[in-house]
Amino acid sequence: MNKQLIFAVFLLLLLTACSNNKKQEYIADADIDMSDEYLLTDESVLTEMPEYTKVRSGESETYQRSFENAPPLIPHRVGGFLPIKVEDNKCLRCHMPDKAPEFDATPLPKTHFTSYRPVVSEVNGIYRVDAEEGKVVEKDLDHFNGAMFNCSQCHVPQAEVTVEIPNTFDPDYRKSSTKNSSDLKGKMGEGVR
Ligand code: HEC
Ligand code: HEC
Repeated sequence: MNKQLIFAVFLLLLLTACSNNKKQEYIADADIDMSDEYLLTDESVLTEMPEYTKVRSGESETYQRSFENAPPLIPHRVGGFLPIKVEDNKCLRCHMPDKAPEFDATPLPKTHFTSYRPVVSEVNGIYRVDAEEGKVVEKDLDHFNGAMFNCSQCHVPQAEVTVEIPNTFDPDYRKSSTKNSSDLKGKMGEGVR
């Protein structure tokens, strides 16, 4: 075999190996879940339109937290409070700590008045962040952190639905008080090394 041919065979083998590897790493979207049904559709799971709770705020019962320091589920109706806008956020009217007692609502926790984003600065075209490996960037703001304005990104209203998927998740709370309240502010750095 001449050198060129050996090289060509080698290249072909290499390419085949690479493409085989890629195939093994790639999992199609539809194969990711545990259900046999197509992942990207609700058709097989939801048999009817979910009906969201109509119970007004002030009359609803709060849920146990889904896990320690999970964003609490919204127990009351939200219809009148949507859409949430930067300049008009009705959720804040009742949940700001100075307003909450008046409505008997849970006040926003301290994390919502804290910035966890590092400051980015540019010196001579080089961008740096004021972050260090293993340390939590935490800046107390003396106002609500606007980055958290979109409450329903994390807090979700509830609906009665019938799904045939059992929930096998069993939350493990280290302190029983965290079943109904949060203490994330002092714990943000837990497990960060
Ligand atoms: C008119 C006052 C009011 C408004 C507006 C309001 N809430 Fe509430 N919210 C309450 C009250 C009061 C409770 C406590 C449960 C109850 O009494 O119904 C509560 C409970 C909650 C809880 C559960 C807290 C916990 O400790 O489990 C979340 C989360 C929540 N609201 C989020 C929101 C979001 C998000 C919005 C905006 C879409 C909003 N609320 C708008 C009054 C309000
Ligand atoms: C990026 C996700 C996120 C956004 C956006 C967000 N929250 Fe939260 N919220 C959380 C998490 C996580 C917790 C529980 C841990 C903690 O921060 O104390 C929480 C806790 C709460 C609690 C319970 C406080 C307590 O003492 O137990 C209330 C009430 C609340 N949020 C209301 C709101 C409202 C109202 C908005 C919008 C103005 C909002 N949140 C925006 C993630 C979020």
